[in-house]
Amino acid sequence: MVASEVFPFSKTGGLADVAAALPRALARLGHDVVIFTPRYRGVREGRVIHRGTVTLGGYRRDYALHDVPLGDHARVLLVDCPALYDRPALYHEHGVDYADNPLRFAVLSAVAVDWAATQSPGVNVLHGHDWQAGLLPIFARRLPGVATVFTVHNLAYQGTVPKHWVNDLGLSWHDFHPEGFEFHDHLSFLKAGLFHSAALTTVSPTYAEEIQTPEAGEGFDGVMRARRDRLTGILNGVDDDEWNPETDAHLPAHYSARDLAGKALCAATLRQRLQLPQPTAPGAVPLIGIVSRMVEQKGFDLLAQLRGELLSLGAQFAVLGSGEARYEQFWQSLAAEAPDRVSVTLGYDEPLAHLIEAGSDLFLMPSRFEPCGLNQMYSLRYGTVPVVRHVGGLADSVTPYRDGQPSGTGFAFHPYSAEALLASLREALQVFRERPAEWRLLQQRGMALDLSWERSARAYVRVYKGVLADR
Ligand code: ADP
Ligand code: GLC
Repeated sequence: MVASEVFPFSKTGGLADVAAALPRALARLGHDVVIFTPRYRGVREGRVIHRGTVTLGGYRRDYALHDVPLGDHARVLLVDCPALYDRPALYHEHGVDYADNPLRFAVLSAVAVDWAATQSPGVNVLHGHDWQAGLLPIFARRLPGVATVFTVHNLAYQGTVPKHWVNDLGLSWHDFHPEGFEFHDHLSFLKAGLFHSAALTTVSPTYAEEIQTPEAGEGFDGVMRARRDRLTGILNGVDDDEWNPETDAHLPAHYSARDLAGKALCAATLRQRLQLPQPTAPGAVPLIGIVSRMVEQKGFDLLAQLRGELLSLGAQFAVLGSGEARYEQFWQSLAAEAPDRVSVTLGYDEPLAHLIEAGSDLFLMPSRFEPCGLNQMYSLRYGTVPVVRHVGGLADSVTPYRDGQPSGTGFAFHPYSAEALLASLREALQVFRERPAEWRLLQQRGMALDLSWERSARAYVRVYKGVLADR
């Protein structure tokens, strides 16, 4: 596999969690998995197992591979090349992409293919994640027996760069056409992955359908329709080693669906840490958690339209995230206006993310679009009832509560509007306040779901076997 981020070595979003969990889940099913990722600044782990030189067009780069085991039968090979990866950030600084990103990520795929070419017994499958790994199937052509698989985690990120990169990276102009990697007279890494891989997956069944429509296709809906017979939607899982309320090392107390007592202690610790007042009676003031990149994808523009309404819900908010300045400022000003109701933590904080998942009563995720979404699944696991927009992977993981029906695990709205969000939030708060027994059932049903990576990994194995059989 090739991925531009792998937890805990690097992470800006859910891709890192997936890239760490899927290899281990496949390994538990008996497969040998190696995942290539950059050795970014600050990564110390690894034992050097190989030094090499990669040549792409006019570029030559020396690198070393640092080996880190991921349990049995899975390992990470960190590609050490300081000239490319020893930077303050992963992809961009101050909103400006690193100008050599095409080279940085082309090298990553090229190194993986060079390594695969030397393996005996040989590699069966090369699996790339997101645009950064888009050139993997192009470089893999020199390994005729190998099946290529490409996973879309987010179609909004496309790696579309000026066409001089075709020459610069030593690619072929024969592929520079609409059914190759040409996209509006540019080179698109994403399109390379989509058109040149034998099989495609994305991270939920609903998103797999949505991206075939102009509304959600981000300009690639035609491509997705052209390749629909190759496309499978596979919902991500929850990594039990990292996200389990019975064992989570970041929590002051543990709990399970049978015994939720520890969750109250997590809530008290969370409020104390965020300096939110403790409620006078248990359950008197619901706590709503948000952990998110603060970008339009996540529905922050809807929240920004609801300023007064959010403060008058009689709830508290624990918000963690970072992103666009306008959304950061919105939450900062809300917290300044009502410090007893709103806490915002700007930045990236893994332990706090866990504590918010555990200590909140509700989790809010009103995404405009959501390929899968992990936080709503972590919430389900942690007995924190999700309030989501019914879209993408949110629709595939959260069953909306309907009065009198014994199936709901959360609350969902569909129209992308502040009114719809507010109505859903109000409904959730009403059930929380007035029907505690119903609420308990909502929590327990969510906690009982099978969100395991094993289920997802088996679906990936079916995809791998399908392409191997087709060759
Ligand atoms: P996306 O990948 O689109 O950002 P996901 O829900 O798939 O959305 O994954 C987000 C991941 O990033 C989760 O593991 C979440 O806990 C984590 N995360 C997001 N923002 C922060 C933050 N500010 N601090 C800590 N973890 C965060
Ligand atoms: C992307 C998507 C998110 C998904 C994650 C992991 O970042 O935005 O919905 O959960 O990838 O697949």
